[in-house]
Amino acid sequence: MLDALPRVALLTGPTPLERMARAGAAVGHDQLWVKRDDVMSLGLGGNKLRSLEYWLGEALATGCDMLVVAGAPASNQCRLVAAAGARTGLETHVLYAGDEPETLDGNALLTQLFGARIRWLGPMSEAERGECAVRAVEELRAQGRRPYLIGDPVIAALGYVLAAEELAGQARVLDLRHVLLPGSMGPTEAGFIFGSAVVQAPWTIHLVSVEYQEDELRRRIAALLAGLRIRTGIAPPIDPMTRVLIDSGELGAGYGVATPASRAAATLFATQEALILEQTYVAKTFASLLRQVKQGSIARNEAACVLHTGGVPAIFSRETR
Ligand SMILES: Cc1ncc(COP(=O)(O)O)c(C=O)c1O
Repeated sequence: MLDALPRVALLTGPTPLERMARAGAAVGHDQLWVKRDDVMSLGLGGNKLRSLEYWLGEALATGCDMLVVAGAPASNQCRLVAAAGARTGLETHVLYAGDEPETLDGNALLTQLFGARIRWLGPMSEAERGECAVRAVEELRAQGRRPYLIGDPVIAALGYVLAAEELAGQARVLDLRHVLLPGSMGPTEAGFIFGSAVVQAPWTIHLVSVEYQEDELRRRIAALLAGLRIRTGIAPPIDPMTRVLIDSGELGAGYGVATPASRAAATLFATQEALILEQTYVAKTFASLLRQVKQGSIARNEAACVLHTGGVPAIFSRETR
């Protein structure tokens, strides 16, 4: 669908679409599915790898020779940037907010293992971290390097335009009526919403808000959808938001804070399906599925699929388990 846009292949093919028969039996719904974006061969996988195909495409198309990214030590994105850098031979600089810990675990441990140069910035806000990243890029340019700053959210969204097309192809015989995914900063969601509208997919999209209140999430997605129209040159045949519902019922005390429901979901899907659900994004999304099946807003005769966006290494970190 997006053939004209620069892309570096990092996935080896479609991610699996699997039926969750035992979890379904446990909750009385025999058409529960999971799209396994936690199963990719590079760097333990996850949603940001689809974004990285386009970020790296843009980096190489604009003559860059190294990657710069900033984030929290728990960031899946930083880990996957380091993995993509290792795979493609692009030097990678990761700026972590916070003080250097005595030992690394989870995502940060993998970032180091993949050979990224890590700089610890000390404790700071997200805005300050972003400013540090811009300054680091300017310094590298002054040294004659050609750094690419990871993070453009519209480019990030492109990977999920394709993911929607991929799922539509896989689910052709399923009559898939609901797809649930985490609602956070927006790129994954906006790409999936845009792609679903372009291919006129039959499903309603449930964004399970894990970070922002509904108004803010909608505002972010609207801006990204406008950006996608410009970047792709595609005008979806329907308003992409007509098939989108936002579920704020799993937010609990906010971003990154587990809830009793998210912990129960992680236990149920681990014991019935051997799925690994981290608590910031994925467990809350599966918790929404369980609650909506129970409440009847996802009917028992309607096939429903959760998009598992990855983040598995987070469970090996004390702070994010
Ligand atoms: C595992 C996982 N799921 C979902 C998201 C949310 O994606 P987005 O930032 O595109 O909203 C992230 C973001 O880092 C993530 O790591």
